[in-house]
Amino acid sequence: MNAIVPYVQMFQAGLAPEGRPVGVFLLLGPTGTGKTRTVEALAEVLHGNCKSMVKIDCGEFQMEHEVAKLIGAPPGYLGHRETHPLLTQTKLNAATSEDSNLSIVLFDEIEKAAPSMTRLLLGVLDKATLRLGDNTTVNFERSLIFLTSNLGAREMARELVPDFGFEAVAAKGAPGKQARKLEKVSMAAVRRKFAPEFINRIDSIVTYQPLDQSSLERILDQHIDDFQSHISNRLGPRSFHVEVPMESRKFLLERGTSIAYGARELKRTIHKNLIQPIAAMVADGKIDPGSRVQASCKGGNSLEIIVRDTRLRPVPRDC
Ligand SMILES: Nc1ncnc2c1ncn2[C@@H]1O[C@H](COP(=O)(O)OP(=O)(O)O)[C@@H](O)[C@H]1O
Ligand SMILES: [Mg+2]
Repeated sequence: MNAIVPYVQMFQAGLAPEGRPVGVFLLLGPTGTGKTRTVEALAEVLHGNCKSMVKIDCGEFQMEHEVAKLIGAPPGYLGHRETHPLLTQTKLNAATSEDSNLSIVLFDEIEKAAPSMTRLLLGVLDKATLRLGDNTTVNFERSLIFLTSNLGAREMARELVPDFGFEAVAAKGAPGKQARKLEKVSMAAVRRKFAPEFINRIDSIVTYQPLDQSSLERILDQHIDDFQSHISNRLGPRSFHVEVPMESRKFLLERGTSIAYGARELKRTIHKNLIQPIAAMVADGKIDPGSRVQASCKGGNSLEIIVRDTRLRPVPRDC
């Protein structure tokens, strides 16, 4: 965020340079450390919705003909009428909001795309324009462009996984040293993959560090808070309070996070152990409105969901 915010402010002040995107960022680092989430969070702050962006999942553009679909076929080509470009000015403009006319464009997991994606991007990063098959152009002068990649992830994992030798153990006690090491590893992988003229067009390259214990705890707290607001918003007067004691949070953290996969599994773990069991009880009418629902950890392989008490206990008929 420290790297991104100055570019947003430059745009808001009307001082962003012309003829190029407002900012171009390459987010690197191990999987599950929040690269994609950063861009979603920015969309939330700028536009009030984490989906307000043009997102290109580069995994869907592994073949050259798939990349061609982004710009659409030129007139006269067989099938021209059927191939609407995926990356249009209309889509870019639709990714703005009343609060901000700065659109966010995310090329997610860039290393998965066919090589022609890099060529296409060169023009976008350099001149802020993309020429489509029908000869119209898309203007990116009001866009922030994000590229994410886990290039070098395997080498990084080798640095991170404990018991893998002296280096990892030594780095453990020195987070600054570990950060520099990861940066070196990821940059070396980027240099192997992309030409210097491509790298030169990027304003800021950020290498994400593995999430530490306290970050993981905060992410878990966020997910549980989100679940509670979801219950309150969706169930209204039928809603109830979910309590997740410390030892249950520990249980979820242990199962949902790892050095190798970051916070990737956390959402799934919460779904499986907390949200789905509670949803099943709601569907069965086992949770009264206003109840305190506790996710208790008694050891073993799952949490036990206990309805503690009902504040709005129905009055017995014969009283
Ligand atoms: N730094 C973070 N802050 C908040 N949530 C995070 C963070 N890192 C990971 N997460 C959680 O883990 C999930 C996976 O993270 P993601 O951003 O997709 O990882 P990647 O770095 O592989 O793009 C996110 O949807 C989010 O719920
Ligand atoms: Mg990602």
